[in-house]
Amino acid sequence: MYRFALAGAAVGLLLVSASRSPAQGTHPTAPPAVPAAPAITPSKDFPRGTATPAAECGACHRAIYREYADGFGSDMRYPGEKLRVKTDKILEMPAGTSVAASAHAVAGTDPWPIHAREAEEENKKCNVCHFPQPFAIPEHTAVEIAKPPPRAEAQEEGITCASCHLTPEGKIRGPHAAPNAPHETVADERMSSSEMCAYCHAMGKRVPGKQTQTYLEWRDDFAGAGLGRQQCQDCHMPRTQRKTAEDFDVPVRAVARHLWTGGHSGQRLGSALSLVMLQPQRNSAAIELHLINVGAGHSVPTGSNRRAIYLQTRVVDRKGKGLATREWMFAPWYGPRPDDRAFLKEDEKRPDHVSATQADEQGPHEAPIRAGEERVLTWQPEVRDGNYTVEASLIYDLNRYNDRSFKGDQREISRFTLPLSVKASR
Ligand code: HEC
Ligand code: HEC
Ligand code: HEC
Ligand code: HEC
Ligand code: HEC
Repeated sequence: MYRFALAGAAVGLLLVSASRSPAQGTHPTAPPAVPAAPAITPSKDFPRGTATPAAECGACHRAIYREYADGFGSDMRYPGEKLRVKTDKILEMPAGTSVAASAHAVAGTDPWPIHAREAEEENKKCNVCHFPQPFAIPEHTAVEIAKPPPRAEAQEEGITCASCHLTPEGKIRGPHAAPNAPHETVADERMSSSEMCAYCHAMGKRVPGKQTQTYLEWRDDFAGAGLGRQQCQDCHMPRTQRKTAEDFDVPVRAVARHLWTGGHSGQRLGSALSLVMLQPQRNSAAIELHLINVGAGHSVPTGSNRRAIYLQTRVVDRKGKGLATREWMFAPWYGPRPDDRAFLKEDEKRPDHVSATQADEQGPHEAPIRAGEERVLTWQPEVRDGNYTVEASLIYDLNRYNDRSFKGDQREISRFTLPLSVKASR
């Protein structure tokens, strides 16, 4: 089992398709090749292709640009994040970057992916999703999503407007027929479907619990299971009525806000999970905690294996004094098996040993809460007879691998209490 993981799991901090790992070609269980990326025709309107600066599109599409570049209308925030030990310096956004910009706009400036590439991946090319070339929208039924080919030049531009809108044929795709555009456009209704996000928000095959599964979690656990009809855009790109190009004679349409709030948004995080605490037997100190995914169309947390949610509980007496505490951590696994300290020695032999080791060092933890899932946890705090309060809070951590005393990148997302009356002697 683990041998399979070793061969199949290598390359990325963020995944695991090992497509460029030398070990893979010789391994008998190597996955079938994914379809080759399409040939790319240069765009006649935008000769720099996906490296076309977003501001050039923003000259005409002003409101959309303001959302993408400045986060206008969102509550995004990029706190400094810390590396692994106390003495490391805090990595912050470069001066002049909007602190509320959309994550796509900062994909080329966010110091985290860049640092991870240098420190954990020994300068391996991770540019396929952070700086992609034009890609074809994948099929809903794809077993494995092909990686977009990387853009070698102009990486500081990150994910531009053209990264999503330019087709391999060199045209600009949008959800509507837009005959009045000064550039070649092509209407593609799949722009409003989750497949539009699949290329970068999924990698490799479905492995429940693992990182880089967001699209597959949506497809298999949420849409496929009949839990909802929302596509990624319906939750992450809320629409409004306006012209898409302010100075042109074009109709007012339902236009999607280009904000994509996720782990950097308190509003978004606050809507994902609900917690119910119960004392199932009167007078007994046993507590049940039901953690319910009520708001996300995929697992929580999703995406990068750095993300974690802590459920921290404590029992306090009438004076507010803490008597017992318990914590659970929910996080995606790094590879296709649970992170586990037992593998630390094996990790040293891996090509991606830094990333694998930091995941395994944390040891076993709870898997993410899947779409629609209600996770039931139990706890029996050791307290004497008396009247208490159980306090619980859910905390989101952007980077679970840093020194736990560093709280700058953590955010409390909700808080709950339960009165607890214990009379164990009866
Ligand atoms: C000179 C002004 C101008 C520039 C520059 C420009 N556009 Fe447009 N674009 C327009 C106009 C006008 C339309 C037509 C809008 C309509 O019909 O509602 C349009 C249409 C579109 C559509 C189709 C909208 C739909 O409703 O489906 C997309 C997508 C688009 N542009 C993206 C881009 C991108 C990406 C860039 C930069 C690579 C860009 N545009 C650069 C003016 C511009
Ligand atoms: C991460 C991918 C992505 C990026 C980056 C992106 N867009 Fe879009 N854009 C979309 C999607 C998806 C839609 C369709 C939304 C929907 O279903 O309503 C869209 C729709 C549009 C439309 C049509 C109006 C609408 O909302 O339906 C225009 C115009 C447009 N985008 C322009 C831009 C410009 C200009 C930029 C850069 C400032 C940009 N986009 C960046 C994914 C992207
Ligand atoms: C071209 C690749 C690409 C496409 C297509 C794409 N994304 Fe992303 N997305 C990224 C990358 C890379 C990041 C992380 C950027 C960073 O943090 O540096 C990201 C970040 C995000 C985040 C924010 C995560 C956070 O940390 O706050 C959300 C939400 C998101 N994407 C949603 C979407 C949705 C919805 C779509 C489809 C409409 C989509 N993305 C299409 C590459 C892509
Ligand atoms: C029903 C609404 C809903 C749908 C549908 C949905 N999401 Fe989310 N998304 C959320 C919520 C709530 C969160 C915050 C909790 C979390 O991080 O899982 C979130 C968080 C995210 C993040 C943030 C991860 C991070 O590390 O910061 C990304 C990326 C993302 N979604 C992408 C997608 C993509 C891609 C799709 C479609 C395949 C999608 N979402 C569909 C509600 C939704
Ligand atoms: C399949 C596409 C894909 C590839 C390949 C990829 N990334 Fe990412 N990356 C993403 C997406 C999407 C996000 C958004 C966050 C999420 O999903 O949680 C992201 C986010 C990140 C983050 C977290 C940023 C934050 O906000 O904390 C880091 C660090 C990162 N990537 C580093 C890398 C490195 C290093 C590599 C190469 C080994 C790499 N990525 C390859 C798609 C990709």
